[in-house]
Amino acid sequence: MLKPPKDALLQNIRINRAAPVPIYRQLDSALRRLILDGTLRPAQKLPSTRDLALGLGVSRITVKSVYEQLVAEGYVEARTGAGTFVSHELDLKTAPENQRPRRRIKSSGVEISGRARTIMSSRATARHGETDPFRPGVPALDLFPVKTWNRYLAEAMACDERRNLSYGSVTGSAALRASIARHLTDARSMQVDPDQIVITSGAQQAFVLISFVLLNQGDTVWYENPGHIAGRDVMQAMGAKIAPVPIDNEGLDLDHAISRHPRPTIIFTTPSHQQPLGTTMSLTRRLALLNYAQENGAWIIEDDYDSEFRYRGRPLPALSALDTERRVFYVGTFSKSLFASVRIGYIVLPPGLTDTFAKARNLLGQSSSAVVEHTLARFMDDGCFVEHIRRMRRIYRDRRDTLFQCLKQDCADHVDVQPTDAGMHMLAWLRGGLDDQVAHSALLEAGIDSLPLSVYATEAIADPALVLGFSGVSENRIPKLVKRLSETLADLKRWR
Ligand SMILES: Cc1ncc(COP(=O)(O)O)c(C=O)c1O
Repeated sequence: MLKPPKDALLQNIRINRAAPVPIYRQLDSALRRLILDGTLRPAQKLPSTRDLALGLGVSRITVKSVYEQLVAEGYVEARTGAGTFVSHELDLKTAPENQRPRRRIKSSGVEISGRARTIMSSRATARHGETDPFRPGVPALDLFPVKTWNRYLAEAMACDERRNLSYGSVTGSAALRASIARHLTDARSMQVDPDQIVITSGAQQAFVLISFVLLNQGDTVWYENPGHIAGRDVMQAMGAKIAPVPIDNEGLDLDHAISRHPRPTIIFTTPSHQQPLGTTMSLTRRLALLNYAQENGAWIIEDDYDSEFRYRGRPLPALSALDTERRVFYVGTFSKSLFASVRIGYIVLPPGLTDTFAKARNLLGQSSSAVVEHTLARFMDDGCFVEHIRRMRRIYRDRRDTLFQCLKQDCADHVDVQPTDAGMHMLAWLRGGLDDQVAHSALLEAGIDSLPLSVYATEAIADPALVLGFSGVSENRIPKLVKRLSETLADLKRWR
């Protein structure tokens, strides 16, 4: 076995503490570079996290999380009890210099496609039931009215000679599309013909479908930076060139995008409540964006994922409600307003595209569950949906207030908390030079599931922050959890 080249490795890694790029990122890209340029060879052992941390003068947690990321992406392999090794299956002949990997990953001897390789480098996490406190985007699942839902579910199973037990309609049941159209008129000021709606298995499948239908290899997608991770990864996997667009205090920075990235095919935006920064797009910016899309033949995806939860004033009309020229694909989801495993989302299509989307939906998963569609339509038509939203809005507002107060009171040495009027999470900007990925890893070990702001970004963003979900944490647990959060961050600073 090849010996760990610790000293040689240290000479090849330069950590610049004055640089705006977090230490985590610097170490991560240095190691990738050394693997791709062959300095670190397949099957070569890496130094232990302790040795590398000591040698570089960085925290061990930083090194550990970089190793974990490289394992997840297939650059290195962790062998229990033996250490961390450069992946022996890495085929470097295919890796152009100074690029992210164009490597072949063989899994059980199977060569995977370029598209799958892109997917393998996705930073979206697979969330299998993870609901530790402060995970962003998790609703109050324990308060969901299960009994009422079950009544409609039982009805859906039995009615119409059990027709719901067969395949559903590819664009979704007429009843559910009509319920959603009515809801969009009442809540989002949109005039929608139910035939414009395609039901999907969540917003994520909506992004897959839209990309599948609209994108050709190499097309430009303007994407908010920082922005929703999994949507960006889908478009990248579909061959798009992602053009990161910064956010200013009016929303997506249109002037920046126009000057740097001409001719976008798609513009992806979260105007009601920017994911994750929380900005609401101004009316002027909305009109300018629609105007740009119309004049340049671009399509807009409006991801309206959590607009039900606005705590001051009424929810703003959707961007789509202003779209007289029909350039917007409006995407909604029930993952936040009800629960994620309902797997129901929808697209409101611009005219003339229903047949294309019906065909595409048929290929990519056929239909959603007719049983669930029936249940949800009845839940909405009987007013239970609106009632649930109203109740959750009150509860989330109280949770938000409690988290804000506790952070101010018990964590002010470590974070500057940003007030929010909407949504299910808030931002806590880290003080004292803490790296958000390092803080995230340490907090996770302490049972706190925040997300680092930097994972939402493709290009370095100025300041590190934690994204803290408050909707899924009951008020009485928040003070104790914030104390734990504060202690963990204090420990982290002491260790450095
Ligand atoms: C901004 C945003 N959009 C869309 C989604 C996708 O939701 P789903 O596929 O569960 O409907 C999420 C999920 O977390 C999200 O945060």
